[in-house]
Amino acid sequence: MKAAWIIIPIVLVGGLLAVSAWLVQADEIYAPEQPIDFDHKVHVSDYSLDCLYCHTYASRSPFAGVPAVERCMGCHLLIAADKPGVQKLQEYWQNEAPVPWVKVHVLPRFVHFNHEAHFRADVACRECHGQVESMARVARVASLEMGWCLECHRAREASVDCLACHY
Ligand code: HEC
Ligand code: HEC
Ligand code: HEC
Ligand code: HEC
Ligand code: HEC
Repeated sequence: MKAAWIIIPIVLVGGLLAVSAWLVQADEIYAPEQPIDFDHKVHVSDYSLDCLYCHTYASRSPFAGVPAVERCMGCHLLIAADKPGVQKLQEYWQNEAPVPWVKVHVLPRFVHFNHEAHFRADVACRECHGQVESMARVARVASLEMGWCLECHRAREASVDCLACHY
């Protein structure tokens, strides 16, 4: 009888811990490890590079694009050439291979997104991607669910016609 008074609370607390661990995991922000530790904070905040310097297509095409190794080498042939991350970069450069960056944001194929439309409408990168300029590793801060798109489209009087995004 006495043992039950000890065991029951332990089981209950254990159960609560397991549930909360599961909830935390479900809420965890997606920020995959990358083949090279590229740090946006260093490049954007410390060295004042514009987002469009690297994601050139965001202003004029559906896709923002990730820069080719060539864009990095303009600086990294010399800058920080002794650092391990930059040496990895130089290896890709010498092998003429692209860096296999892991995608952080991916929509299902049946959804059409368009960076240019948002750029023209003055929707800032940070409204969807968060403060990338202070991220040592890019994290996905938005759900990318349909409800998320529609909420802003209603608020900004943008199209909520199914065919705007599905065709
Ligand atoms: C010096 C070049 C450079 C600059 C400047 C830069 N980026 Fe990036 N960005 C990259 C590279 C390389 C990656 C891919 C590796 C990674 O995810 O960290 C990337 C990845 C991203 C991603 C994730 C892409 C995905 O896979 O979904 C977002 C979002 C992003 N950048 C937004 C921004 C924003 C917003 C700015 C300006 C505040 C910015 N970037 C400035 C080089 C740059
Ligand atoms: C305009 C110049 C410039 C461009 C373009 C640039 N970088 Fe850098 N990068 C720097 C500077 C400056 C530093 C900081 C060096 C330091 O603090 O020693 C840096 C630091 C780094 C580091 C960290 C080195 C370390 O371990 O401290 C990596 C990795 C890196 N850059 C990768 C990239 C990649 C990948 C790209 C292309 C997507 C890129 N850089 C484009 C200027 C640039
Ligand atoms: C209205 C929301 C929104 C805005 C504003 C926005 N993005 Fe995106 N971004 C997305 C979505 C959604 C994706 C995933 C697209 C897909 O999978 O088709 C994405 C993907 C990306 C990627 C991955 C490569 C690619 O082209 O898919 C990069 C890099 C990126 N965005 C950078 C930027 C930059 C830089 C800005 C500002 C100039 C910006 N984004 C503005 C929502 C946005
Ligand atoms: C933070 C606000 C915001 C979010 C989030 C957002 N949008 Fe938009 N979107 C806009 C605005 C503003 C426009 C421009 C409307 C205009 O030009 O009249 C637009 C335009 C578009 C267009 C072009 C429509 C046309 O008729 O040319 C498409 C496609 C689109 N958005 C898809 C999406 C998708 C898909 C998502 C979610 C993954 C999304 N948007 C999330 C604000 C947003
Ligand atoms: C502003 C962009 C946008 C508009 C407008 C839009 N959708 Fe979507 N839709 C999305 C995105 C993003 C997804 C994928 C993410 C998700 O499943 O929530 C999606 C997913 C879906 C799915 C798949 C859901 C699932 O669980 O797999 C269906 C079905 C759908 N939409 C139907 C519609 C219909 C019907 C309309 C018009 C009443 C509409 N959508 C309007 C962006 C949009």
